[in-house]
Formats: sequence, structure tokens, C-alpha cells
Amino acid sequence: MLPTIAQYLADHQLPLTDFTLRLFSPGRINLIGEHTDYTGGWVMPAAIDKGIEFYARPRPGQALYLHAVDLDERAHLPLPVTGKSGKLWVDYLAGVVAEFQGLGHALPGLEIVFGGNVPPGSGMSSSAALEGGMAFLLNEVTGAGLSRPELALLCQRSSNNFIGVPTGIMDQFASLNGSAAGPILLNCASLEFSALNASLPGYEWLLVNSLVTHELGSSEYPVRVRECAAAFAAVKAKFPGVANLSSATPHQFATVAATLPPTIQRRGHYVVNENERVKKMATALQAGDAAAAGQLLNATHAGLRDNYEVSCAEVDFLQEQATQVFGGEVAGARIMGGGFGGCTINLVRSAAVPALQTFLRQAYREAYGKEPEFYPVKIGPGTHLR
Ligand code: GLA
Repeated sequence: MLPTIAQYLADHQLPLTDFTLRLFSPGRINLIGEHTDYTGGWVMPAAIDKGIEFYARPRPGQALYLHAVDLDERAHLPLPVTGKSGKLWVDYLAGVVAEFQGLGHALPGLEIVFGGNVPPGSGMSSSAALEGGMAFLLNEVTGAGLSRPELALLCQRSSNNFIGVPTGIMDQFASLNGSAAGPILLNCASLEFSALNASLPGYEWLLVNSLVTHELGSSEYPVRVRECAAAFAAVKAKFPGVANLSSATPHQFATVAATLPPTIQRRGHYVVNENERVKKMATALQAGDAAAAGQLLNATHAGLRDNYEVSCAEVDFLQEQATQVFGGEVAGARIMGGGFGGCTINLVRSAAVPALQTFLRQAYREAYGKEPEFYPVKIGPGTHLR
């Protein structure tokens, strides 16, 4: 149990022993395959050791009593859920409730206490951890018997329809279906997946948090989704057999690109090449080839920065300092997640990790007046009962 939850329960005279339904819902990282999920492509995310814990007990009455420990906020959610509450964290939970209701499941009154340790705005998807944890919990309580992939789809529908953000499936799927064995290679069209071994001898995966969150992220994401749909429409017109944008080969895309506006060309170019890079990363990991893996990370960063245009100055700075100024001890690095801030993910020679941290701390302080945060990647299992 996270110490904050224990403290919260004690402070509010809530008896820990009553809360017998307990679970952990992880955040996620993504090694490669960024913005390829909503185009039906490949991604390589992993569930991590940081996440959200849920504690629940039955409560009389037709309502959910919700406690957000980290925010020290409470909410009373009458059942059935009929619409948004106006508070984002409540709505992430309410949306999942609405999906269960839509499937015909009657929900009992519950008291739910949750809290976690996902650094906010870091791009490790605390929102997916929140949705996935709630879905897992309600699946237990109602006996709905949904599989983990079905729960991930349910959470994505909640994000898309209730919250109103057109996210792909990656975050929710990784949180619910992650494996302690390593990242999963997931096909976002078929939802087939398998775990990979991402450990490269002598290297470590390190997250560097820019501590920047640009509001732009939430407004630009739907724009990218639409731009990819436009790119796909052109591909489909010429190659009717191609099922989605990610399945188009770079060559197929090149033959239609000239007919598209320059911005759409750049977006499509990024997506089809990123999808190829995911497959190449799987090969590099299998071969234990850190240099090849690093080059793929750098290529993804360049694509996200120049063609997909979802990076920002601070993150570009951290990526460049790590890979070009600090030098050869970093095989590669890239911005991770939806973009416009958050973390870079770095593949670093293990022995050089402390020196890299010292170097980036100083460089970032001089350039931006603050120090980044560092988190070694610890891959863990998907959502599980405690
Ligand atoms: C966000 C979305 C995901 C995915 C990533 C970018 O995290 O929730 O579905 O699109 O951005 O790869």
C-alpha cells in the first residue's frame, strides 16, 4: 500500500480492513511506436512500477463515494451516471461507470479510495491508470467477466465518448495487459500482442522528465488524428486493399503524397515510417543491438519534432544534450507519449547513468532554470489485485 493511502484512511477514520477489494493499476511507458495506435499500427509500450492503487468497500445507497487521496478531494457520484460532473478526475471514473451501465450491469453502492505515484504531466498516462483501475474494479464487483483487452476497449470508449478525447488504445491496453517480462509488441488493429525482452546488456532505459506540460497537447492531438485520417483517405483511394494508414508501406505513401497538402504529407510520412521502426526495434532488441535501437529512437524523435510537430523546445534540448553533447554513452533518446512536454526515454550505457544525470541537471538548469527529474524504467505486470 502506498504510505499516503494508509495515512489518508487513518486520518479520515476509514477502517482499512473494510476495504477488502484492493488493486494496483500501472502507468505506462512506450519504447517506440508513437502516434501509431489510432492509425492501426504497431506500438511497444510497457506497464511500469508507478501507478494508482484502488481500495474499495461496499456502501449502502445508490452512489459511489470517491476519494482522490493525492488531491485530497472527495466526490459523491449518484448512480446511474447520467452525464459529466465537471471535474476531470471524477469524469474519468464516471465515464467507465457509464460504459458498464451501457452494457447492462447494475452497479452497487461503493466507497472507493485511490491514490498513486505517477508523476503528473510526465506522459506516463495516469489517466489510463485511472480508467483501467476503475474498469478492473467494476469488472470484479459486477462479475461482468470482461477480458483485459475488452476492458481496455471499454476504457478507450470512455475516453473517446465520455471525456471527449480521441485517444488510441495504447495507454489503456498497456496498463491492463502489460507484462513483467518486458514491453508488449501490440498490433493496434487486431489487438494481438506478445511480450518482448527489452534488456540490452550494459544499457539502461532512463526517463528524463522535462517538467513541462503544454496545454497545446490536448488541442493538437485531435488535429493529428484528423490529419492522419486525411492522409489515409488518399492512400485508400489509390490502394483500396490497405486497411489503415499504418499498414501503408512508405513506398505506397510516397506515391500519393504529392497529391496532399504539405502538412498532411509530413504527418503521413512520419506515421508510415514510425510503424516500420517499431518492427525494426523488435528485431534490434532480439539481436541485443543497442546501437540500432538507439538510432531508431533518434529517428523517431526527429520525426516527432520535424514532421509530426509534437515536440517542444525543452524536450528537444534534453534529447539533443543527451545524444549529441553528452555523447556516445547514450545510444539514443526521444520524446515519449502524446507530446508537447513530459519525458524523454533514453537508452544509456549503465555505467554512465549517474554522469548523464549530473550533466543534464546542470545543462537544463543553465538553459531553463530548473532541473529535470529522472526515473529508471521498471517494467511490471498489468493491473492486478493486491
Ligand atoms: C497519448 C494517447 C495514446 C497515443 C499516444 C501517442 O498517450 O492516449 O493513445 O496516441 O498519445 O503515441
